[in-house]
Amino acid sequence: MYAAWTVKHKPRTLSEVVGNEEAIRELISWINSWNKGVPKKRAAFLYGPPGVGKTVAVEALAYDLKMELVEKNASDYRTAEAVQRFAGLASQYTTLFGGKRVILLDELDGITGTADRGGVRAVIETIKTARFPVVLIANHAYDPRFSTLRRYCLLVEFKKPTIFQVIKRLKKVCASEGIMADERALRLIAERSGRDVRSAINDLQALAQGRSRLTYEDVAWLSERDRKEVIFNVLRTIFYAKDCVEAKRAIDAADVDPDMLFQWVYENIPYQLTDARDLAMAMEALAKADVYRGRIRATQNWKLLRYVLDLMTAGVAMSRRRSKPSGWVPFRFPERIRWLARTKQQRQMQRLIGMKIRRRMHVSSVRAVKEILPYIRVIFEDNAEMAAGIAKWLDLDEGMIGYIAGSKGRAKAIVRNLGS
Ligand SMILES: Nc1ncnc2c1ncn2[C@@H]1O[C@H](COP(=O)(O)OP(=O)(O)O)[C@@H](O)[C@H]1O
Ligand SMILES: [Mg+2]
Repeated sequence: MYAAWTVKHKPRTLSEVVGNEEAIRELISWINSWNKGVPKKRAAFLYGPPGVGKTVAVEALAYDLKMELVEKNASDYRTAEAVQRFAGLASQYTTLFGGKRVILLDELDGITGTADRGGVRAVIETIKTARFPVVLIANHAYDPRFSTLRRYCLLVEFKKPTIFQVIKRLKKVCASEGIMADERALRLIAERSGRDVRSAINDLQALAQGRSRLTYEDVAWLSERDRKEVIFNVLRTIFYAKDCVEAKRAIDAADVDPDMLFQWVYENIPYQLTDARDLAMAMEALAKADVYRGRIRATQNWKLLRYVLDLMTAGVAMSRRRSKPSGWVPFRFPERIRWLARTKQQRQMQRLIGMKIRRRMHVSSVRAVKEILPYIRVIFEDNAEMAAGIAKWLDLDEGMIGYIAGSKGRAKAIVRNLGS
């Protein structure tokens, strides 16, 4: 049911790959040089940071040039024997149907050995006799183990794309998912990802899946204190812990706000615990935690926090009895936190106005906002003269007047009346 967007929206052709134009051009012209016979460098070594499109560039290139792609990951060829098993595919003279072939050895960082032994040596031997282009990919090409290997390779550096290019890709994904996204929201996601396209798309999915609109307020909290990696780690530990101790440790290790974590756990329980009875049990634990939270708020007895945390972590973790791990389920960003972020300015303004009312009318500011502000609003919308009188009496500034009046025109009229 849940497909990772990095897979679902993986570029098929080079026209969809953003950034690294020059590196890709270099790669293409090297591949094309094979048409005139085996070139001096029989391998290309692509290197650079993760998530910038190294793998996908080679896949898309093979697709565009209609080449057969033989793709191996580090796990397939860690040792010399494993390399030798497919080395023949590189040294044959023709493919079965006479087409062109490219051999891709991805994630070379995980291979064993050096130039003299093990997997690295076997790769060098394979390149020496290759009749088809061999592409190697690693994060670090300058590992000393690769020094001999490098001599046989055309080195091609992949760099991080620009923020603009990351945004461009995010926009494309949003378009195919039918999401209207603010430019600023996408910019923040791109910036927070450190220009790692893969992680930017993962974040976008967590933030926007199932929505038709993504605003800056929806993502603004990404730049706040509780970094999402921290939260995700805690959630993972809670939902996949094997015992209470492990689950409880999750929260001790991390510096997260318990109220914030509560919202996260609450939002994600239904997606993580798919069995109805497990779900009921977990919700029960959370409900108890919430009772303690209420008591802490009322009494400021912070000793109770221990119970809140235990119920939220161990209580939820132990509810998993029958739910099967349902494959890859992305964590969801809590609606309530989104809502709080979206309404932050508004709530702040109400609080300030509430305090002004409290000073004059001797009610609590919460009650002032709830019970008195609505009446003031009616007056502000209807009678500029009377509104100005009230504004003066309460000592409201222009920002507050504008907020209560709800329109620029009305606010102006009230301010004009202030002088008289
Ligand atoms: N430059 C890019 N253009 C478009 N999509 C990208 C790009 N870089 C990464 N992606 C997305 O991230 C996923 C992982 O990219 P990948 O090519 O494996 O990165 P790398 O090999 O550099 O670690 C891709 O499937 C794709 O969805
Ligand atoms: Mg890769």
